[in-house]
Amino acid sequence: MCGIVGAVAERNVVEILIEGLKRLEYRGYDSAGVALLTDQGEFSRVRRIGKVQALADAITDDNGKGTTGIAHTRWATHGGVTENNAHPHASSDRIAVVHNGIIENFADLRMRLRDKGYTISTDTDTETIAHTVHSLLEAHDSLLGAVQEAVSQFHGAYGTVIMDREDPSRVIVARSGSPLVIGLGVGENFIASDQMALLPVTRRFIFLEEGDVAEITRREVNIFDVDGHPVVREIVESTVEHDAGDKAGYRHYMLKEIYEQPTVVRNALAGRVSLDGLVPGIFGDNADALLSQIKHVQIIACGTSYHAGMTARYWLEQYANVSCNVEIASEFRYRKSVVHPNSLLVTISQSGETADTLAALRLAKELGYTSSLTICNVAGSSLVRESDMAFMTKAGAEIGVASTKAFTTQLGAFLMLTLALGQHNGMSDVDRTDILTGLQSLPAKLEETLELAQEIEDLAEEFADKHHSLFLGRGEQYPIAMEGALKLKEISYIHAEAYASGELKHGPLALIDDEMPVIVVAPNNELLEKLKSNVEEVRARGGIMYVFADKDAHFESDETMRVINVPHCAASVAPIVYTLPLQLLSYYVALIKGTDVDQPRNLAKSVTVE
Ligand code: M6R
Repeated sequence: MCGIVGAVAERNVVEILIEGLKRLEYRGYDSAGVALLTDQGEFSRVRRIGKVQALADAITDDNGKGTTGIAHTRWATHGGVTENNAHPHASSDRIAVVHNGIIENFADLRMRLRDKGYTISTDTDTETIAHTVHSLLEAHDSLLGAVQEAVSQFHGAYGTVIMDREDPSRVIVARSGSPLVIGLGVGENFIASDQMALLPVTRRFIFLEEGDVAEITRREVNIFDVDGHPVVREIVESTVEHDAGDKAGYRHYMLKEIYEQPTVVRNALAGRVSLDGLVPGIFGDNADALLSQIKHVQIIACGTSYHAGMTARYWLEQYANVSCNVEIASEFRYRKSVVHPNSLLVTISQSGETADTLAALRLAKELGYTSSLTICNVAGSSLVRESDMAFMTKAGAEIGVASTKAFTTQLGAFLMLTLALGQHNGMSDVDRTDILTGLQSLPAKLEETLELAQEIEDLAEEFADKHHSLFLGRGEQYPIAMEGALKLKEISYIHAEAYASGELKHGPLALIDDEMPVIVVAPNNELLEKLKSNVEEVRARGGIMYVFADKDAHFESDETMRVINVPHCAASVAPIVYTLPLQLLSYYVALIKGTDVDQPRNLAKSVTVE
């Protein structure tokens, strides 16, 4: 969602803040703003609609000076995309605030603030933070005290940074439901919603915990827990690559991340699994004993991560003989569910901060699951810290809003979990060997599959003028069809639906005509003949098909069907291999349509509000 950067230093911080915002822009990008304060108390605030570059262009020698500053990229929740609604928000020309999350009781707060004489001048919930803090300044001898009292009045989620024009020596930060990380420098300290923003200036971080309030000066960081007691939080040396925010010569992050998949999948498997089997202990200390008791898995996730969970259900039931449910986090958290005995709760998330998934984990902790595991890409994220076990996907920083390498590494993680659970639940030697050999050859298969790029780029031309499309798959390729459809709609804005192809004649067949391209995922597996019947049903109705198929599946291109041969691979890893052509297809269609591939409209990378 939104991104936050702040700094307290001896030097001018404007460039640090702007660079930090650029590195966070993928999280939210409808407006950006910065507030700066010099040691002499000169204050400036600049806000612009659009990308961070529009803000950078508006910074001048006059308005771009400050040793203390806060900055923000916005993804609108309350109030339209206007300069007036852009952060930082201010109160009485004194307090300036940036905020991620949602203050749910903002309407009540507004009424109270109006009664106290404040004028509400924006449509945002964030403005109430600024006025509330301002209203409490008199009753406290410090900004810290005012913020500590103010946060007790907020309901909802916030990561917020507050600056007082009358005291350039510090900023106060507070976290509840939206992550914040403090960056430690020498004679200067920083705050951000994601360590990525601060990698150019430090590698030493403190991840704030729920309810923490902290006071940050140039030389000191004082943290107080939810009860107001001083606490010491661990300092973590970041292992994130410094250049993770670079495109490395690719036109878009998404393309770079698609091409990184052979490497990151190789990294994710290395030291964890070989042809001999799984390396013991890869799910954590004591995890092996715990996993040996598991008879049921409940998977919770959103978006692309949910599709990884859908795929895993086929694997866990087919290979590991473990029953499995998969549910979208925003549904799970608001319904009463029944917990099976010996159940493992698995959350999946690239960011580890998705609000609904995190809330579902917190709810599940009260429901009696045997244990919780998160499959996650961001070390130190909330899901990692709050789960009993964490299995890192090791995909590296994923910047493109459309998730690609995070998905394929999530699938790799699930195959390892399938092996781990299968060994206690009668997995057959044939299946075990298929998974182990499949994983062993997977990086090479992915490399081979990427060689289809030119062919896919050519056929993308045929999609550019289409408004609708249908993706079909069966079995464990059905979630892959869903993921292909999500990618296409997300970045090309073409309406795309996915169906289990057996469902065709129960409704979607009515849509078929030559304006509705049908994309079929067709590896050579035991469902192939069934799938071929579905293909004929589409052909008989004049549909135009694009079939991603194994050579041995014997599909032939003709005037109604274009066949793209995908390298032959082990059945167990086929969902991973077949994902890549669909990613490439959506990428090239978006490229032709000229959309903003890495930052598609209305979306954000990390969905930290519900
Ligand atoms: O960080 P998460 O994996 O929890 O995010 C979940 C979804 O928001 C995410 O997968 C989203 O659907 C992607 N943008 C799709 O490409």
